[in-house]
Amino acid sequence: MAAGKKSGGLKVSGVSHAYDKQMVLRDVDLEVGDGEFVTFLGPSGCGKTTLLRIIAGFIEPTKGTVEIGGQEMTGVSSHQRPVNMVFQRPTLFPHLDVFENVAFGLRVDKLPKEEINERVGWALDLVRMPGYEKRQAAELSGGQMQRVALARALVKRPSVLLLDEPLSALDLKIRLEMEAELRRVHRETGATWVYVTHDQREALALSDRIAVFERGRIDQLADPMTIYRAPATPFAAGFVGNANVIACEVKGKGKACKAALAGADAAVADPGLNGPAWLVLRPESIQVETSGKGVEATVRDVAFRGTGFSYRLEVAGLEELVKAEVAAAPEHPIELGTKVWIGWSPDAAIVLPREQ
Ligand SMILES: Nc1ncnc2c1ncn2[C@@H]1O[C@H](COP(=O)(O)OP(=O)(O)OP(=O)(O)O)[C@@H](O)[C@H]1O
Ligand SMILES: [Mg+2]
Repeated sequence: MAAGKKSGGLKVSGVSHAYDKQMVLRDVDLEVGDGEFVTFLGPSGCGKTTLLRIIAGFIEPTKGTVEIGGQEMTGVSSHQRPVNMVFQRPTLFPHLDVFENVAFGLRVDKLPKEEINERVGWALDLVRMPGYEKRQAAELSGGQMQRVALARALVKRPSVLLLDEPLSALDLKIRLEMEAELRRVHRETGATWVYVTHDQREALALSDRIAVFERGRIDQLADPMTIYRAPATPFAAGFVGNANVIACEVKGKGKACKAALAGADAAVADPGLNGPAWLVLRPESIQVETSGKGVEATVRDVAFRGTGFSYRLEVAGLEELVKAEVAAAPEHPIELGTKVWIGWSPDAAIVLPREQ
């Protein structure tokens, strides 16, 4: 299929939104480059769908502007914007079959019959639904409906495609397959994509850049590796990669720099600050030993993950259990109630400032 039209990307400036009196977006600025794949990642209710609907033109923001392809969109209705949206809950025409659902927008555009056939075939192939052309939409499973909705959006070749959790109703196996397909379709069409998910794994796998949302604001906007390795806030660290975020006190400089927590001093790479801080530790960078030194802990929970064991460890003086992911080298996990020592390499610890 030919590359899609270039859009010039999109720009969101100072967008705030309130439903009635409840503020759900606060002063959001965001630029998405032409052909870029940006993901909005954040917990339920943080405003992801609201911002997508504002970009699509279904709601006017209380404040701020949206530009698409360099053009201000205020007052431009949703169907006049060069945008297509795949909704969180698929909306198909139940009385039409799969083919007609996908073909609908092309018929409205009065495209020639052969082109409609060719493009609908391409889109259904893409979402692995060939053979379903004559099936009524109402007779599909939730995951199949989602795929048809995706095909219906792709077939229009929009220059900006907005996808609101398009894979959430699919089982893990199809989701992984669809992820690879989406990456390919994105590359092939060259369009600008904004993708919403609360699945951090999906965000890391798909995106050029991720915007981490926390209560109506963007906490951090960066490429996946930066978000994972250098989270800007304790929230971003905890949400992406399920990191342990532990209050500590940093003292000393250079090689002598230590983070004091739970009655122990842990070595950390000098973060260039002293005093109250957050120690961010990825579960997979924590070592768990049944003898030795480090921070003392007790095993409170263990789960087998196939590739390894997930532990939850109680450390005296810490409010939350420490999460550790350990490769399943020993055949058996450490038993509940066992006293262990946890440690980590100083380079694996991230230190963020903590306001008191
Ligand atoms: N039409 C509406 N009227 C009033 N409040 C709304 C409306 N739509 C959403 N909200 C509220 O606005 C906030 C943000 O909702 P939004 O749908 O943007 O969240 P989200 O990040 O997409 O969440 P999810 O991951 O659950 O889909 C929520 O508190 C929600 O209850
Ligand atoms: Mg939503």
